[in-house]
Amino acid sequence: MYYAHITGWGCAVPEKVLTNADLEKMVETSDAWIVERSGIRERHIAGEGESSATLGVQAAWKALEVAGVRPSELDLIICATSSPEHIFPATACIIQDKLGAARAGAFDLSAACSGFIFALQMAAQAIRSGALKTVLVVGAETLSRLTNWSDRNTCILFGDGAGAFVLQASRQPGGVLSAVMRADGSGASLLSVPAGGSRQPATEETVKAGMHFIHMDGREVFRFATRVMGSATQEALAAAGIDLAEVRWIVPHQANARIIEAAARFLKLPLDRFVVNLERYGNTSTASIPLAVCEAVEDGRIQPGDRLVLVAFGAGLTWGALVAEWSGPFSAERRIRPGLYRLWAGIRSFFRRLSRFLESLVWGRKA
Ligand code: ACO
Repeated sequence: MYYAHITGWGCAVPEKVLTNADLEKMVETSDAWIVERSGIRERHIAGEGESSATLGVQAAWKALEVAGVRPSELDLIICATSSPEHIFPATACIIQDKLGAARAGAFDLSAACSGFIFALQMAAQAIRSGALKTVLVVGAETLSRLTNWSDRNTCILFGDGAGAFVLQASRQPGGVLSAVMRADGSGASLLSVPAGGSRQPATEETVKAGMHFIHMDGREVFRFATRVMGSATQEALAAAGIDLAEVRWIVPHQANARIIEAAARFLKLPLDRFVVNLERYGNTSTASIPLAVCEAVEDGRIQPGDRLVLVAFGAGLTWGALVAEWSGPFSAERRIRPGLYRLWAGIRSFFRRLSRFLESLVWGRKA
């Protein structure tokens, strides 16, 4: 029997910071309103040249470095994202190329803000079954590109960033212990990007109407979120056979401080058992949970052996929770040098493109 341990972690956010004071100049709002209703004070926004994949790649290199795992050892890359680079190809494939992960399959997972938990569970199941040994899970977002910056109902909430975990197989018990994944598509219209897909392709009219931006019924999403965060936590704990008292940290999706407070009340837990950093990042969708975990590991709050519950909700509607025992790297001595692998990945990608070009010339002549 194999267990899926989280052995590497890494995060990345763009340099540019957008504060509530900046937003006051863009829409009719105030710092006091945003802080009181959401808890958010600032968020990071991607600059030119930055995208979901570039942030995902930065986070992935850090995670591989912590785990001491070479890109060539990866069996699979799953990128959970609500703001993929394209409808296709998958953002995960772009990340795979940039890492030079020659043996890895790669695909995107779309479950909105619950995506990181769903992706972790899929990776863990593949490892536990014995099918795969080493999986990279990335949550990467540039929601700022889907945000209508003149809509005060949504533009105050979202931010950009990425996080990544490396999961590895071991016969030692621990790692991902259980998870629940849920969906209710009857609430699909409560939070969506209405146009730009196959149902409503982008046209001049859809763009003029701003239908390529995030549309949200904030009150309904809020009510749904407060209903499911606590119950999903309890279900995942029951599946793992673990009592809430044995859990060191709850790491919730960082959407709104009031939603987290409601979950704390439901679970009868003090707020200091929750990892919360949304005041500095806003809602970064699939990146929010790894961003919070990375900070808490780096400042020493999360320690090996700690039991965690990760819990999220999002568009779909989707929600889920995952129970894990924090592992840390298998061997602190095993180091990789990302600089060298980055160079190798660039050379590999260049020669693959060149060989495809030469091949097309030869075939063109034959035909
Ligand atoms: N500044 C000032 N006033 C505002 C702003 C703003 N930025 N936004 C809305 N208001 C106004 C509204 O127009 C409304 O005025 P009205 O009563 O005259 O119509 C009033 O403030 C209250 O609006 P509500 O929507 O009731 O405010 P609420 O307390 O619900 O807070 C919020 C709004 C923060 C959006 C909240 O509903 C929320 O967080 N919902 C959950 C959203 C969420 O988490 N979405 C992400 C899901 S994850 C994913 O998949 C991407």
